[in-house]
Amino acid sequence: MYSLDEVTASAPAKVILFGEHFVVYGEPAIVLAIDKRAYASVKMRNDSKIYINSTDLGIAGYFEKNRFISEHGDQNAELKLKPIKNAIQKVLERVRKSVGVNVEIHSHIPVAAGLGSSAAVVAAVTKATSHLLDIGLSKEEIASITLESERLVHGTSSGIDPTITTYGGVLLFRKGKGFMQIDVKEDMPLIIGNTEIERSTGELVSIVRQRREKYPSIINPLIKAGGKIALKAVNALENHNFTVLGELMNINHALLYALGVSNSQLEKLVYAAREDGAYGAKLTGAGGGGCMIALSPPERTKQIAEAIEKAGGKAFAVKKSEEGVRIEN
Ligand code: PMV
Repeated sequence: MYSLDEVTASAPAKVILFGEHFVVYGEPAIVLAIDKRAYASVKMRNDSKIYINSTDLGIAGYFEKNRFISEHGDQNAELKLKPIKNAIQKVLERVRKSVGVNVEIHSHIPVAAGLGSSAAVVAAVTKATSHLLDIGLSKEEIASITLESERLVHGTSSGIDPTITTYGGVLLFRKGKGFMQIDVKEDMPLIIGNTEIERSTGELVSIVRQRREKYPSIINPLIKAGGKIALKAVNALENHNFTVLGELMNINHALLYALGVSNSQLEKLVYAAREDGAYGAKLTGAGGGGCMIALSPPERTKQIAEAIEKAGGKAFAVKKSEEGVRIEN
């Protein structure tokens, strides 16, 4: 027991290829882990404090007996660190010991951009802490601890982020029903365009809920159509049919626009990518800012990234990551 001084784990970011928002209403969605990761290093303390430092977020502080003492950061520091603390407590409950830990977070994932940064951090912390304490947690347990810890702070969510960051790869996901791995052999040239407009997933989910309550007979068929797109895309992904995938991405984006979650900056980036030869482009995640994705012909990735930058976005190419949460040392 406790033979390791410090354990580092990492977990990947994600992009939703198809089905964000529709997934909240039970429709299937397709999500892909990408090659940007969050890292968490955990070591034991001599006291019972849970001390967390995130240089990227510029916040640090510790929890002791459920009180939070901030060392630096804004007034939201506690809210931002709470899911991490919740996850650690859930792991510590398993050893039934009151031990303290030091946690250092480093992340290469943009925050509040729809790329699943917060779930990746929590999954990495959960994995590192359990490894440090020599508790073997299954992937299922890590995904469930990550989901519960996030829900305590952010309210309900479909669970798509905790699942993909834990398992990696490409998944067909259904809320409350689990997932199916999709076998995508070829790499897909994907470019992310970040509007750098921060937004809250909860607010966007409630915009959709209100629109659905006001116009159920119009919005419900759109949600159903969103689910059909995801199912059709499985086949196109397995057969690397980029033309069909691009068209399905465009239809998916149009439905999200109708749901009220696009905005002018996302539209600019989506159109810039399409006009420069992308097979298709759509917002990804909750919308209202955050990121869009474009599926590019392999020889056009540079031009499409430049077009997105010219339209005011921050563009970067990503690859899929087969590996979910993992130990680094
Ligand atoms: O937090 P984001 O931007 O990755 O959005 C999550 C996807 C939604 O479908 C909008 C919400 C959910 O819980 O699935």
